[in-house]
Amino acid sequence: MTTQEFLGKENFTINDQTVSESCPSNIALIKYWGKYKDQIPANPSISFTLNHCKTNTEMEFLANETFSVQTFLSGSEEVKFAEKIEKYFKNIEQYLPWILKGKYIIRTENTFPHSSGIASSASGFGAIAKCLMKLDESFSSENHQPSTINQKASFLARLGSGSACRSLYNGLVVWGESEDVLGSSDLFAVQYPNSEVHDIFKDFNDWVLLIHEGVKSVSSTVGHGLMNTNPYAERRFQEARENFVPMKEILKNGDMQRFIKLVEHEALTLHAMMMMSDPAFILMQTGTLEVINKIWNFRKETNLPLFFTLDAGANVHLLFPNNGSEEKIKTFIETELLQHTQKNGVVKDVMKF
Ligand code: DP6
Repeated sequence: MTTQEFLGKENFTINDQTVSESCPSNIALIKYWGKYKDQIPANPSISFTLNHCKTNTEMEFLANETFSVQTFLSGSEEVKFAEKIEKYFKNIEQYLPWILKGKYIIRTENTFPHSSGIASSASGFGAIAKCLMKLDESFSSENHQPSTINQKASFLARLGSGSACRSLYNGLVVWGESEDVLGSSDLFAVQYPNSEVHDIFKDFNDWVLLIHEGVKSVSSTVGHGLMNTNPYAERRFQEARENFVPMKEILKNGDMQRFIKLVEHEALTLHAMMMMSDPAFILMQTGTLEVINKIWNFRKETNLPLFFTLDAGANVHLLFPNNGSEEKIKTFIETELLQHTQKNGVVKDVMKF
């Protein structure tokens, strides 16, 4: 598929509509960090789609009114968010030619705390892209296949926020062209084939320890931008591409030890890249380091599969499978790790598919 194939058709009939959609967040295992013009990722990434952390969005479209966007987050008006969406809609007009021909009232809510650092841009733009595709379907005269609609939703979500394009699918999802994943593309995400995934990865926990609540010290936009001048960036992009080779083997054979090593390495690399940027950023906090060290000691002592990944912030995503050892791991988290959070904050999610 090329960008041209996503261009919108001019034959449409618009009318007033209200549509609602829900979209989950996702957590990357091989990270997207660095991008080129038009939201093209510098390397492929793979993520787990979460089951509980979602954004629910209602989009009211008032046809033929002057283009404007009003947004409400959990009932409160958010002017900044509306400005962002207006810009986004103007940016994607060639793909949805009716998009600027009306007024929007968008009501949105997250099922997870705003402060959690869980990517609300991923679930948020995912839900908006799904709403737009619902409107597109009702305005255009052609009948689209559900798979085509979802692919275009992923394409549109990417233009809002890169990681959002992965939230359009369940399970393991790949975004970015990789010679190791059939059908993968820089333009949209694809589901990683379930038949190539060992059962151990199909029922997993992601508990997010809220080490630091509040605004992140570096936004994704700034973070991605710093990769443009980072002297190690090219090597990092290459490494991420190479990491798909072991990841593919691991996902197939269920080798948990190698999985743990690879996922933790990816998280630490993302943070190392930020430390080696100019200006430098240290995104971890004392609690993050305490938790990582405790996890490593716990694994040494018990051999149980508790490990972590990190996004561009201080919070720790605790990953562990539901394979019989989870009760011991949960007890350890409650008694040893929770104390390093700011307010006993933990968001418990699962990835079941
Ligand atoms: C660290 O998708 O938030 O979560 O494309 O600028 O919106 P934009 O960035 P964003 O970056 C997320 C980066 C990450 C890693 C990942 O999800 O792969």
